[in-house]
Amino acid sequence: MTRPTPKTFRVKSFGCQMNVYDGDRMAELLADQGMAPAADGADADIVVLNTCHIRERAAEKVYSDIGRLKREDGSRPMIAVAGCVAQAEGAEIGRRTRDVDIVVGPQAYHRLPDLVARAARGERALDTDMPADSKFGALPGRSRRQRPSAFLTVQEGCDKFCTYCVVPYTRGAEISRPWDAIIDEAKALVDGGAREITLLGQNVNAWEGADPAGRVQGLDGLIRALDRLPGLARIRYTTSHPQDMRQGLIDAHRDVEKLMPFLHLPVQSGSDRILKAMNRSHDADSYLRILDRVRAARPDIALSGDFIVGFPGETEADFEATLSIVRAAGYAQAYSFKYSARPGTPAAAMAGAVGDAVMDERLQRLQVLINAQQQAFNDATVGRRTTVLFERPGKLPGQLIGKSPWLQSVHVVDPDAAIGDIATVDLLSAGPNSMAGALAAKKAA
Ligand code: 5AD
Ligand code: SF4
Repeated sequence: MTRPTPKTFRVKSFGCQMNVYDGDRMAELLADQGMAPAADGADADIVVLNTCHIRERAAEKVYSDIGRLKREDGSRPMIAVAGCVAQAEGAEIGRRTRDVDIVVGPQAYHRLPDLVARAARGERALDTDMPADSKFGALPGRSRRQRPSAFLTVQEGCDKFCTYCVVPYTRGAEISRPWDAIIDEAKALVDGGAREITLLGQNVNAWEGADPAGRVQGLDGLIRALDRLPGLARIRYTTSHPQDMRQGLIDAHRDVEKLMPFLHLPVQSGSDRILKAMNRSHDADSYLRILDRVRAARPDIALSGDFIVGFPGETEADFEATLSIVRAAGYAQAYSFKYSARPGTPAAAMAGAVGDAVMDERLQRLQVLINAQQQAFNDATVGRRTTVLFERPGKLPGQLIGKSPWLQSVHVVDPDAAIGDIATVDLLSAGPNSMAGALAAKKAA
């Protein structure tokens, strides 16, 4: 069946921040083709579901989202499944449903306009190639309207092959984008109104590239170059791997004022035996020694992490080692997940599956500890005067929500505060997930 070429679009992204970035780039690509974003609540002619495959039931969720796109008269928009489920299960999606027109993987979405044209001709279009020429060069320039806090993907893929993880299969091998492309994109983001840039990569601290003088630089070199960009006020990066946490990057936390005091450094488990089975290249002690060096460089750093409970073979003693490393590390925030066997990963074939009830109970205990640490971190910042970058309106009338340097959400109600401002704020009170603050000084008229 042929379909009219879409005039309006909606992109829905799930999963990690890299997917948010990809979703923005797909939206910009469709806008570049003359399509308009569908208004809130209105039907779109094409819906892109930008999916995540990291944990269980990802595919089921996609099928139910597709079902929900059916209209009362039985028609539906043109539907594109993008992202990591598309990459991992592209052919399977085509077999299971007639209701998907386009399947496009994370390394091929620059070809979306061509796929849309094919779908309009009535073809089912599948593209899960990982072309050698990077998609980045084929994408249009960044839009002139950017959020105050923007994402910039500098590195993609993963060569580490943690035994539980699909990323090496869905995103491919580690690649670093070239220096000039990143600096140019950062300038475009700042020109579009971004005040803060978060450099993204599955292993962002593995980024490597040659600077204009031909010298090989790591992520710290890039951060130092971005530090010189007028108009850019804040720099962040995520996600880092302990193995790539080099001294230069740690030093940047001491030297570069624009680099925010926040580090997301997942450890996954506190048990050396489990870390080995996960094929992590660190043990509990080497992880804690990295934190010592980071804190020596930047004592107020807010630490974040990821944890998996119930990896195959995890005993109560292994899990207690995870609780111990959380206590020793001291997190400002952390994410914890029940292990989910991902098809095709080595861990999926390992013996020693942990029962769901045990996983639930461990997750619960871990989250009680993490929540207490989050509350303690936030409590310790009450009374501090700091800066907040306002990003969006809050739920209450006149309320704005922004981020402190330590990535806390800070709520302020003040007619003098505006989205995009970086204001001096007094932190007044703390909850486990956010802070209340007040502008320290009224803006000069
Ligand atoms: N099961 C549970 N959690 C996982 N993660 C990655 N793969 C899995 C899996 N198979 C978690 C890790 C990672 C975060 C992004 O998701 O903690 O750091
Ligand atoms: Fe999900 Fe990983 Fe893909 Fe991000 S890279 S969307 S976390 S599977």
